[in-house]
Amino acid sequence: MIATTAIEAWLRRAADLLEENKGYLTELDAAIGDADHGVNIARGFTAVVQRLAAQPAQPLGPLFKSAGMTLMSTVGGASGMLYGNFFLKAANVAGDRQTLTPAELLAVLEAGRDGVVQRGRAEPGDKTMIDAWTPAVAALQEALAAGQPLSTALQATAAAAEAGMRATIPMQARKGRASYLGERSIGHQDPGATSTYLILRALADVFTDKDANRT
Ligand SMILES: Nc1ncnc2c1ncn2[C@@H]1O[C@H](COP(=O)(O)OP(=O)(O)O)[C@@H](O)[C@H]1O
Ligand SMILES: [Mg+2]
Repeated sequence: MIATTAIEAWLRRAADLLEENKGYLTELDAAIGDADHGVNIARGFTAVVQRLAAQPAQPLGPLFKSAGMTLMSTVGGASGMLYGNFFLKAANVAGDRQTLTPAELLAVLEAGRDGVVQRGRAEPGDKTMIDAWTPAVAALQEALAAGQPLSTALQATAAAAEAGMRATIPMQARKGRASYLGERSIGHQDPGATSTYLILRALADVFTDKDANRT
């Protein structure tokens, strides 16, 4: 069972990893965007964590909803709306649950990914965060179906997101600001796919490394 505290630990770990990689993400966005992704996403996740810490314990639906609303209001740019929608759709699936089974966690991530697609209309291969989300969700599904324990399944999820992130390098962007560059977007790693990888790396860390679970 995945408790609310583990989900909160995930968001804290994600905020830390995004903060640590803020410069890297902004550098990636400088190459094919407007050099704001790292700063924006780190600010947004830090705000999510601060708001959660200030709120009383709540079921996972309201928790994800709070995260989504905070991201929408603090991140700015395309990714604020996309990650915001991710968590709003995740909230619908989580509802009033206080715990998730691994299968429910998969359903939450899948709904979130679908929310990003609904909002941004990107398909795999368009050089966006969807190129990390989609293989990651598929890997989690496959690992759980194969009967792997959650920690192993989440390592496979993060590894698939990382491979998806690297696979954006040779792609030409067809969505978002990078698409304005046309062929000049080829040869650069997508910043949003990179932040998605870090968010899923954080999730895997929480279920692998006990240190990541600490406040
Ligand atoms: N339509 C879309 N669907 C999915 N992801 C998108 C879309 N447009 C942009 N993105 C993601 O958002 C990232 C850029 O985020 P950010 O820099 O915060 O936004 P902005 O381009 O508004 O400055 C891209 O690297 C890409 O992964
Ligand atoms: Mg940008």
